[in-house]
Amino acid sequence: MTNITLSMGDITDQTVDAVVNAANSSLLGGGGVDGAIHRRGGPELLRECRELRAGHYGNGLPAGRAVATTAGLLPARWVIHTVGPVWSDGEDRSGTLASCYRESLRVADELGARTVAFPAVSTGVYRWPLEDAARIALTAVRDAETTAVTEARFVLFDQDAYDVFARTWEALRKDG
Ligand code: APR
Repeated sequence: MTNITLSMGDITDQTVDAVVNAANSSLLGGGGVDGAIHRRGGPELLRECRELRAGHYGNGLPAGRAVATTAGLLPARWVIHTVGPVWSDGEDRSGTLASCYRESLRVADELGARTVAFPAVSTGVYRWPLEDAARIALTAVRDAETTAVTEARFVLFDQDAYDVFARTWEALRKDG
């Protein structure tokens, strides 16, 4: 059973086995979480991302999928890159967002990672409303019954995001 924890801070400070990156399909960096992870992860991280693009992920990583690289200079062993869906009020992409978490846990299990730090995927540049993203994320991780991951740590960057995740998690636990 995965213990879900919530914390407020910078995901690049987390000493865990694997840090999940809110990447884009290019896997070659960006802003937000992606920028912070690449800045702190250093050249080794980008080199491995480039290798992925030169190999199996020639066309980039599709939304909802996940792939691991070294964590470079981060206080973690691996980075699990996942690409969130961009928010659309015309199309329901909830399944793709849930897949980011399920696939990240699947990759974590392949690695043997037991502690995993997650950002609030898609809630920044990709404009997904926080409350809905929190519900999808927490439900997907809570319902991942076969994973060997012992801690799923949601790392929220500001008080507002933290409060939304905490309220949402409280409500989900009440619902059972
Ligand atoms: N640690 C934890 N959370 C962070 C950090 C950080 N260092 N930096 C930003 N966040 C939060 C944001 O406040 C937001 O709530 O992570 C959440 C996700 O925001 P983004 O990083 O913008 O990710 P996303 O919305 O999934 O957009 C992905 O943005 O940075 C580019 O290359 C990335 O194209 C991709 C897109």
